Amino acid sequence: MAKPPVIALLGGGQLGRMFIENALRYNAIVHVLDPDPSAPCAAIATRFVVGDFRDADTVIRFAADADIVGIEIEQVSVEALHELKRQGKRVVPDPDVLRIIQDKGLQKQFYAEHGIPTAPFALLESGLHFQGHPHLLPAFLKARIGGYDGKGVMGVQGAADLDRAFEAPCVLEQRVEIDMELAVLVVRSAIGATVAYEPVEMVFDPRFNLVDHLRAPARITAMQNETAMALARRVASAFAQPGLYAVEMFLTRNGELLVNEVAPRAHNSGHHTIEACPSSQFDQLLRLYMDWPLGDTGLHGHSAMINLVGEGGTGPVEVKGLDDVLHVPGTFLHLYGKQETRTGRKMGHVTALAGDHAGLDQAIAVTRVHCKVVPRMPGRTITNN
Ligand SMILES: Nc1ncnc2c1ncn2[C@@H]1O[C@H](COP(=O)(O)OP(=O)(O)O)[C@@H](O)[C@H]1O
Ligand SMILES: [Mg+2]
Repeated sequence: MAKPPVIALLGGGQLGRMFIENALRYNAIVHVLDPDPSAPCAAIATRFVVGDFRDADTVIRFAADADIVGIEIEQVSVEALHELKRQGKRVVPDPDVLRIIQDKGLQKQFYAEHGIPTAPFALLESGLHFQGHPHLLPAFLKARIGGYDGKGVMGVQGAADLDRAFEAPCVLEQRVEIDMELAVLVVRSAIGATVAYEPVEMVFDPRFNLVDHLRAPARITAMQNETAMALARRVASAFAQPGLYAVEMFLTRNGELLVNEVAPRAHNSGHHTIEACPSSQFDQLLRLYMDWPLGDTGLHGHSAMINLVGEGGTGPVEVKGLDDVLHVPGTFLHLYGKQETRTGRKMGHVTALAGDHAGLDQAIAVTRVHCKVVPRMPGRTITNN
């Protein structure tokens, strides 16, 4: 019998963990590289290697015996991915796509060049120069490299913001009046077929600039729904490489859809697909890696995903209120197995399935009121209530 293919995954966080949870059902072999020996994938990967995925030599050595190379984080060595592709391995996303996406400046230019609607912007050598573009103000200043989950993004208006501005190459992007933030996941196969999931509506937590919760279907018109899906497919076609693309969009006050940014990997905006769709985003990724037919993206009913984010400081994890949440019919819990909680750190999520938006509202409210991830205090008993 032929040797089963080995998937080498760069990054061992929650996205990798949920990928492996599904891949295990197919008996797939997944090797994981992450610098943190206690990363969420450490306990469930077929092989777990501690090392830096930003270091080209480390990545090339790690993936030497693999057939397929994937990522669950964007800050990996593109140089290594190029070399692994040259060696004949299937690399998803393509290194050239990742190179563009790693740099918010190249990404914005890519949209402009491909006629993909995006907010007006300028590229700055340093964030300190933002006042040189008064027609874009008020604006968002985004560090070109290295930002994630709202880190590396700040609102700027005038001189008062100068001392906070990033002293690094930045995108200065006009602030748009947002009615709703949407995300559409698209999967593009090796032969260029695409499937898209229904758009999701994202609600952000302004404290952390993270997704607080999302729901699908989004509360938009049938026309907007269709336009958002078509736009996401256009983005995947523009990248013209196989992959899973999470396309974040703004629906503006005047009804325009603008592409904000794209992640070429599994994404927080697709976690509900585990329970709400026949083939989840993680299942699609496995199908892409293995060159299998793409899965069914249809949405069963209504679903919400509520992030469980650490609050109250740093320490060993205590999850409060689980019973209250699991008591609501149609709720599912995902804990990522991170050993330490920190304020603003994604620790898990709850998925809720319901017959309508009112049912989702209830599940979201119960989760928000009862469920908290906090540091365990000495002397306090561990409880699920
Ligand atoms: N041009 C803009 N106008 C209004 N809000 C914006 C704009 N750009 C970003 N934001 C807000 O900031 C959030 C984070 O920005 P984003 O570019 O997606 O960075 P990150 O990489 O941190 O996700 C967005 O989800 C949105 O809420
Ligand atoms: Mg974003």
